[in-house]
Amino acid sequence: MHVFPILLVLIAIIQIGRSADCKKEIKCQISRVFGMRAADCSNRVFRSFPQCLRADIEVIDLAMNRIRRLRYSDLKRYRHLKALYLQDNLLSTIAADTFDGLDDLTGLDLSGAVTIKIPENIFHLPSLQTLYLSNQLFTNIVEAIEKTKPITSPLAHLDLSYSELERLPNMGVLPTLLKYNVSGNNLTELRVEHFSGLCGLNYLINQNINLSLSNPCDCWSVNNWLKNKVTDFTPFDCQLKENLCESVPFNISDIVTHQDCRIKLKEISTRTFMRKVLLPAAIAFIIILVCVVCYCRRRRRLNKPPQYRIPAEEESVNSFPLKKFENS
Ligand SMILES: *[C@@H]1O[C@H](CO)[C@@H](O)[C@H](O)[C@H]1NC(C)=O
Ligand SMILES: *[C@@H]1O[C@H](CO)[C@@H](O)[C@H](O)[C@H]1NC(C)=O
Repeated sequence: MHVFPILLVLIAIIQIGRSADCKKEIKCQISRVFGMRAADCSNRVFRSFPQCLRADIEVIDLAMNRIRRLRYSDLKRYRHLKALYLQDNLLSTIAADTFDGLDDLTGLDLSGAVTIKIPENIFHLPSLQTLYLSNQLFTNIVEAIEKTKPITSPLAHLDLSYSELERLPNMGVLPTLLKYNVSGNNLTELRVEHFSGLCGLNYLINQNINLSLSNPCDCWSVNNWLKNKVTDFTPFDCQLKENLCESVPFNISDIVTHQDCRIKLKEISTRTFMRKVLLPAAIAFIIILVCVVCYCRRRRRLNKPPQYRIPAEEESVNSFPLKKFENS
């Protein structure tokens, strides 16, 4: 009956309510950063995630606010997010489904949270390349990674610095990782398996690390493992001199993990080559071919009634290679 008008009125009331709420919401500075729509909401005493930014926003900087918790509904509006900065908030709860469906998210900064359980599915976001998890207190990073591995996100840069880790996570095979910051953690365990699946690593940042390992010679195994594999790293400062440690062969499982990683890395570079070089080249070739074919057909059609040929045009047609086909 009259359901439709009532519905409209209801929607209108909700809209008005929302825009009234939005009048009250703290304003962010909107701009373009590297061609992306960005909202600078940093250091503005936000206590909850802003809900009045335009829904197609791609970058949100909420660093240094007072946000305590995050849920799926906080981010539901913003399905195009590519980068989200949440460092130095008072985050203590992040619901497991918070980042679900953020398929374009490439960068996430959760540094400086108070006590958070990192949702495991962060490590399966399909575009996530840069993840900052530094300066955490009481974090479950190591457990979360180990429980959810293999990591399927194309992580290229991971920062776990100053997060009170006693050991590094065993991440399994992660060929995409290029830069790994583990500075400022005081480790009681350091083993080759923490690095054996990181065959693409270029840059390991391990400053200000105090080691008190139960087996101090592990430190030399790790240094020797990394020596020929990581381009840029300073050896760990071991507690013992190397000549006091018996040299042990690398564990076969680490060698196998490394080989698996190399194979995956090759597959990735082949795929990248296909996508970035071969595919565009093939498309360009097809376009040129289509153009040539169209051109020739047009020429042939134009040349159909031979009675009215101008001598000059005839000459150019004769010199054209496709003339052969016409004869056959
Ligand atoms: C590594 O982390 C530390 C502490 O967060 C930071 O000061 C440093 O700049 C980082 N290094 C790099 C190269 O990102
Ligand atoms: C080799 O690695 C496997 C799996 O990580 C472990 O169970 C085993 O104890 C290691 N062997 C040695 C000799 O360290």
